[in-house]
Amino acid sequence: MISLCSLIIIVGVVETKSTIEPCNSTKPCPSLLSYLLPWDSMLSEIATRFNVNVSDIMAANSAFPITPSCDSEIVRAGSTVKIPATCECMDGIRRSVSAVYRVEASDTLESISEAFGGLVSADQIRSVNNGVPLLDGDVVVIPLPCSCMKNKNNGRRVVYMSYVVQKGETLESVATFFGTTLSDLESVNGLGQTTLLPGDILYIPIPACSSATLNWYNEKLMVPNGSYALTATNCIKCTCSPHDLKMQCFPSGMHVPCYNLRCKGSNLAIGDQHLEYSNAGCNVTQCVYRGHKGGKILSSLINSSYLQCPDNSSGAKCWPTSAPYFAGPFVLSPSPSPTLFPLPVSEAALMTRAYDYERRLLLLFFPMILLCLLM
Ligand SMILES: *[C@@H]1O[C@H](CO)[C@@H](O)[C@H](O)[C@H]1NC(C)=O
Ligand SMILES: *[C@@H]1O[C@H](CO)[C@@H](O)[C@H](O)[C@H]1NC(C)=O
Ligand SMILES: *[C@@H]1O[C@H](CO)[C@@H](O)[C@H](O)[C@H]1NC(C)=O
Ligand SMILES: *[C@@H]1O[C@H](CO)[C@@H](O)[C@H](O)[C@H]1NC(C)=O
Ligand SMILES: *[C@@H]1O[C@H](CO)[C@@H](O)[C@H](O)[C@H]1NC(C)=O
Ligand SMILES: *[C@@H]1O[C@H](CO)[C@@H](O)[C@H](O)[C@H]1NC(C)=O
Repeated sequence: MISLCSLIIIVGVVETKSTIEPCNSTKPCPSLLSYLLPWDSMLSEIATRFNVNVSDIMAANSAFPITPSCDSEIVRAGSTVKIPATCECMDGIRRSVSAVYRVEASDTLESISEAFGGLVSADQIRSVNNGVPLLDGDVVVIPLPCSCMKNKNNGRRVVYMSYVVQKGETLESVATFFGTTLSDLESVNGLGQTTLLPGDILYIPIPACSSATLNWYNEKLMVPNGSYALTATNCIKCTCSPHDLKMQCFPSGMHVPCYNLRCKGSNLAIGDQHLEYSNAGCNVTQCVYRGHKGGKILSSLINSSYLQCPDNSSGAKCWPTSAPYFAGPFVLSPSPSPTLFPLPVSEAALMTRAYDYERRLLLLFFPMILLCLLM
């Protein structure tokens, strides 16, 4: 009986791993937020809300070209915007600490929760800000969900995306939508037989690629599939090749001063490849990004030979296709999106507070633990 009880308690502890993720490394790790826009907003407003750069939001949503005029581009309510988020390790727990909000006279905790698309609940805002009343001009910390879980799932490299469940969605529909499985979502999120409620937050594992195997000089980068990341002072953009999830990097095309975008002793630019057909097969020379250092972009030529030439159209292609669950990266008119995602946001759904997941788990396990103690 004791062992059964400890099992239940251990399961209870394991179940909470997605909500409160312990950490002991000071290294920040990457994650994503899936933000369902509650009202029309300029890109610059969204960037300010989440304290990230417009360019990084655009890259995460595979929206190019990135120009200064993008800042005032209006994204329509009901669009889903991927927001790159960095999870810090603070007090032994993974947290997102960068978003703050300046309170306006008409704000309530609920309206602030709504502004963040339900990614944070009114209760959570209240508790991290010590229950202070909201006064015009106050700056409050917004505890956004953040989890890395070592950026691994079933041995595969992933970036976790926080997703707010919408009315009418089931675990199955969400799993199908994101190309993952029911059991995977259940195990990642520590769900048993519980049903989903609108406002619940799920962590969705998004396959990712990393520079770890590319022998970069002094940089490490992890990018979720379907997104780009900007690096080397915005000179370089990197993404995962969709077939084999290998990281590929190209000049970003942004209007920033960039030097050394070509490989030394060659006329190939970073991301370019040259194919040489021979009787023996195909010799490929590629100019690849190798990291950056002190304002210098590093690159090198790599020669390889193949029995067949690779599809040479893919090497030169760096123009993104839109992310899978977007009608386009940004919806320009009220979302006519298909059945699954995102559902049109009703007032009621917006007012639903993000469900406090921890409390739910506690409610679930408390009776069991109590039972164990009594036995
Ligand atoms: C850090 O925590 C992990 C478990 O999360 C553990 O396996 C590892 O040994 C810890 N490392 C240190 C240095 O405490
Ligand atoms: C992006 O944001 C960082 C701070 O997060 C800032 O240091 C950097 O200058 C910004 N870059 C651009 C291009 O705005
Ligand atoms: C990566 O995303 C693309 C769409 O952007 C998709 O077609 C492909 O299957 C994804 N690859 C993996 C391994 O999930
Ligand atoms: C291709 O590379 C091989 C060595 O890897 C070399 O022997 C051959 O001459 C090259 N062919 C061409 C057409 O460059
Ligand atoms: C790669 O191949 C090109 C010719 O295709 C040659 O000029 C160059 O020296 C080779 N580089 C290396 C590092 O082997
Ligand atoms: C692809 O290869 C063909 C030869 O098969 C060549 O004519 C064409 O220019 C190449 N395209 C690119 C983009 O390199």
